[in-house]
Order: sequence, then structure tokens, then C-alpha cells
Amino acid sequence: MENNTINLNPQKHPQKRSEEGFNNLVGIEELKEKLLQTLAILLDDSTLNNWQQKHHPKQKLFVVERLKSGVPLIILSGEVGCGKTALAHTVASPLAKKIKKEVTVYETPSNIRGGGMVGEISNRISESFKIVAQELEEAQQGILIIDEADDIGTSRAQNQAHHEDRTGLNTLIKELDQIRLNRKKLAVILITNRVEVLDPALLRRAGLHLKFERPKKGQLADVFEHVLKGTNPTAPELKELTTTAANKSHSFSYSDLIQRAAEISLYNAIQNDQAFGAKVLNEVLKDIDPTPLIEKPTIENMNKK
Ligand SMILES: Nc1ncnc2c1ncn2[C@@H]1O[C@H](COP(=O)(O)OP(=O)(O)O)[C@@H](O)[C@H]1O
Ligand SMILES: [Mg+2]
Repeated sequence: MENNTINLNPQKHPQKRSEEGFNNLVGIEELKEKLLQTLAILLDDSTLNNWQQKHHPKQKLFVVERLKSGVPLIILSGEVGCGKTALAHTVASPLAKKIKKEVTVYETPSNIRGGGMVGEISNRISESFKIVAQELEEAQQGILIIDEADDIGTSRAQNQAHHEDRTGLNTLIKELDQIRLNRKKLAVILITNRVEVLDPALLRRAGLHLKFERPKKGQLADVFEHVLKGTNPTAPELKELTTTAANKSHSFSYSDLIQRAAEISLYNAIQNDQAFGAKVLNEVLKDIDPTPLIEKPTIENMNKK
């Protein structure tokens, strides 16, 4: 193996850029808030202690003890292009401000599976957790992101033919169970586009599971307002955009609208020497199609992989 070292790219928060990135995520306010609150409870004892002091000053609560010793796992799942990766990478900044403590974010590399040699995936998962545990000193707060976790987390039942993936999953579960025993202030965010294939053992351990969907009618106006910021779109213009988007066979993703459609519109405006705004955007929306929805896998498909 030519490269054994795993780079988890530690990032200390708060950072101005992440804070802006977090604020610029639209349409998923509830998910943002829920993630922020949950991380605060997991990583900051005073959040939990203050609450307990206020509401249960004299009682020892079973559920609280369970939370303290439970697995600090959060799952983000759902459609591509809806902000899962962006949210996981930026939430640490508002979190650090909220709990008034620095938070370090680590991410397992996309090649966590390694070269596919026997035992490699397990070793690399263990190694990642070990690095975080070493770096994260007592009383420091950390988040470990495992993005695109579809393969590692795939249900053991659906994975008979893939011994490597199964041992990887077993290792991941073992490492997750160890976090509290090691008394680390670490939360793990596992991200997947295909929650249907995740192993029940992982789902069961997740204290929070946030499901991301493409924007519905109610969120579209927010998205368009965001894209058109600075151009003062009128209410009828926003309505027209929403109607154009709603006329497609299935919904656009957030990134279809915020990245792709917005960028094509800007190019068109520059090339045609016209103003950027609702009009150009609406023409582009009529023209382009939403990215295909994630295909729901069947067990047969999984085993064919
Ligand atoms: N809810 C959203 N609000 C604003 N921008 C978004 C949103 N979702 C996605 N985007 C944009 O699309 C990009 C890709 O999204 P990403 O976080 O990678 O999606 P996912 O991980 O769910 O596939 C983001 O970096 C961001 O620029
Ligand atoms: Mg992603």
C-alpha cells in the first residue's frame, strides 16, 4: 500500500465562511435547527445540565443517563443536491457560537474503502476514529463526518456477497459504541442518499435522523428569492417561477435551482446583454429538466452490484 495515512482534514470552527454557508441554506430551516440543537445537547454538557437543573433539579432521570451513555450518531439521508453535505460541513460554526466552545470538524476521505484489500476498509475506519480520538483532547468538541456512507452502512442482510463491506460496517458499529466509553465529546454525522439500504443496527443507534427532500411549493418561493437576491423580483414573478418549476414531471433539487439554473441564467444574461432576473431565470427553467430522482434499490438490484 503506497499511502497509509488518512487525512481527516480537521477544520476548526467558528469560521466566517461556514457561518455564511449555513445561513445561505434555504428551505431546510427545520432540519438546520434540529441538527444544531441536537449537536448542542451531544457536545455541550451545560445545555443538558441547565435544562435538568431547571426542570428536574432533584431527580435522576433514566432517559438522561441513557442519552449520556448512548451513541452520538446522527444520520442525514435523502435526495441528492438538497444540502446534506453543505449542512454537515457548516453547522459547526453556528454550533460553536451557540455553545461558546471551539468545534473541530473531521471528515473521512472519500476513499475510505481503500484499494479493496482484505481488511483494508475496517482498518481505515478504525484508523479514522483513532486519529480523531488522539487529536481530540479532553474537553474539546468534535464532529466526524462520514459522507457518501452508502457502501459502508449497507445492511448486512443485503450484503451477503460483499464480505469487505460487512466487516467495515461491523467495525463502524464497534467504533460508534466506543465513543462514549472513551469519554470523548464527539458526534458522528453519517450521510447517505440511500437510507433504504442502511443497516438497522445503524438506524437504531441514531439519536437523530434527518430526511432531506426536494423543495415543495412552499419552499420554492424562498429558493427563488434567494437566487434573485439583489434584483427585487415581484410577487407575480416569483409565482410564475414557482408555477414553471411545479410543471415539471418531478421536483427540482435545491442545487438544480440554486447552482445549475442560476448559473445558466447568468451566462445567458451576459451573453445576450440583458439584465439578470426573474425573466431570464424563468426561460431557463422552462428549458432544463430536474436531475433524475434517486432510484429506490430493490434487494435484487443490491445483490447484482
Ligand atoms: N437547501 C439548500 N439551500 C441552498 N443551497 C443549497 C441547498 N441544498 C443544496 N444547495 C447547494 O447545492 C450544493 C450541493 O449540495 P450538497 O450539500 O452537496 O447536497 P447533498 O449532499 O444533499 O447531495 C451546495 O453546496 C449548495 O450550494
Ligand atoms: Mg452530499
